[in-house]
Amino acid sequence: MTQRTPSSSPPSIESPQPSLPSNPWWRHAVIYEIYPRSFQDSNGDGIGDINGITSRLDYLQWLGVDAIWISPIYPSPQVDFGYDISDYQNIDPQYGTLEDFDHLLAEAKKHGIRVLMDMVMNHTSDQHPWFLESSSSRDNPRRDWYIWREGHPGATPPYNPPNNWISMFGHSAWQYDARTGQYFYHRFYPQQPDLNWRNPQVEQAMFDCIRFWFDRGVAGLRLDAVPSLFEDPELRDADPLPGTNAYGDPRQDPSRYENLPDDHGVMRRLRSLTDSYSGERVLIGETYLNSIRELDQWYGGSHHNELQLPMDIQVGFINKLDVNLFRRRILEAETRIDGNQPLFVFDNHDHPRSWNRYGDGTHNDLIARLIAAILFTTRSTALLYYGQEIGMTTTPPKRKEDVKDPIGIKGWPREKGRDGERTPMQWNSSANSGFSNASSTWLPLAADYEEKNILAQQNDPGSLLHWYRRLIDLRKTDPALRGNEITMLDVTNPFVLSWLRPGKEHSLLVALNFTAQTQTISFDPAKDRLPSGQVKTILTSASSLEHQSSLAGITLLRHLDREPTIRRRYEHFARSPERSSDEADPSPFCLPAPSLLPFRRACRRAAIRSLRCR
Ligand code: NOJ
Repeated sequence: MTQRTPSSSPPSIESPQPSLPSNPWWRHAVIYEIYPRSFQDSNGDGIGDINGITSRLDYLQWLGVDAIWISPIYPSPQVDFGYDISDYQNIDPQYGTLEDFDHLLAEAKKHGIRVLMDMVMNHTSDQHPWFLESSSSRDNPRRDWYIWREGHPGATPPYNPPNNWISMFGHSAWQYDARTGQYFYHRFYPQQPDLNWRNPQVEQAMFDCIRFWFDRGVAGLRLDAVPSLFEDPELRDADPLPGTNAYGDPRQDPSRYENLPDDHGVMRRLRSLTDSYSGERVLIGETYLNSIRELDQWYGGSHHNELQLPMDIQVGFINKLDVNLFRRRILEAETRIDGNQPLFVFDNHDHPRSWNRYGDGTHNDLIARLIAAILFTTRSTALLYYGQEIGMTTTPPKRKEDVKDPIGIKGWPREKGRDGERTPMQWNSSANSGFSNASSTWLPLAADYEEKNILAQQNDPGSLLHWYRRLIDLRKTDPALRGNEITMLDVTNPFVLSWLRPGKEHSLLVALNFTAQTQTISFDPAKDRLPSGQVKTILTSASSLEHQSSLAGITLLRHLDREPTIRRRYEHFARSPERSSDEADPSPFCLPAPSLLPFRRACRRAAIRSLRCR
């Protein structure tokens, strides 16, 4: 029995295209980002490490995680906490050894968990042997591995950078090197010189590093900052934009040094390399892009020959509970990426946690449940960041002298850095929350760890953690959630976001109340072209809905009587998603009282005998 909606129904999307592998593991996967410094310390130095991760695999398996992405653990001076790599084929002693890593791989495999490495191809550390050679003299054979230029005529060093480009981390993107009398380019910190990807030797060397990890058994890579690989070869000045950034620099249009067409050749060759390995290895891209059109290019569009999972930040960083915008962007990710697989991102180590970006200070737990429902019941591959599953909060430092992230020191107080979203994992209510037995930890624990931690929430069936776990379980076991279709319902409703995941034996309807007011919604199977038959609620945050057996008159309750507090606004460290002019949003519908009530209902297998579809 099939429950496909007829063709005249609201847009129904069928993917993948014929040339896509039909069911690669990463398509339905739950991928969990681990920031290794902050996950679990096993040797009492206050910094998380590889053996600590290994010791927590039971928990990750219990949660239902399919793969972990580990932020960089290579040898590094740690200026950017690992994103400044000085050796791509080893492990930083702070985190362990290659043997520890192999042990993690083997143990993870036993737990059914794949391991993904972070790969930083745009830049190295200034302590990497390649850069030490390159900076040693103008005629060193590796000079051209980085981007060296003369200063601008008309002024004298160090006051005449080659052009006006600014670094993502503030001020000029050019650093003067007095020894050789030239400037080198750095998109990020000066200690992170950009590699020159126009030199084919750079690609060969970096691809060798990648082979080293694929040969060791990693299941894929998260590719750092890949839209920054290439720059305008003529180094033309960037056009100014109004305003200043957090560091006081005039803002500018980054299109001279971001998302250049040349990036795609590297992505295609890297994809070929990746596909030459067995086991459906996956490439995830850190792709902060302005539009879905640009994002599609990072998949290779209809050729499907670049990244399998470039990150979509259009949905997760809307940063306000705007139903119309969510509906439109989820739909865009379904209809405008050539049948590729969406990867929505709400949280990572670079941004204030979604708990705070979306939370209103009153309904945060419910809003976190709503976000989880989007993460696990759309067609997107699910990516979550450690601690998201218990609602860990962003805890930025209160004093400049406590800041660890250099951008927080440089940008204080407008930019407080990223320490707030990197605080240690909250495992239990003991000292240091079970993260470490050191007398002090590299970042302090968030103040709420005694009440909010994994153990406490494991013991509470009504907790956010159990909500996550039940959703993950549903995603793994419900055939409707493994299907290729999603159909938006009730598409003009500005308060409730609803969609259907049609399935052969039963379908699953998701409805999310984005407001703090009671909302009543009704679905008429005939009018809304839904499968008819028995209805059963399978997951809801309101007990009054548990016995609902009709699609008409569903009352999504208002949760609290008081008005919500004003939501805090955080500034992003990175490019805030800007919309290109061809995709300008219609006047955003801003809800005065954001709250939510997610629930879902479905005709379940148990009720299937009497089910009549259409
Ligand atoms: C993006 C990473 O996520 C961020 O943490 C890092 O600082 C920059 N790339 C530079 O590598």
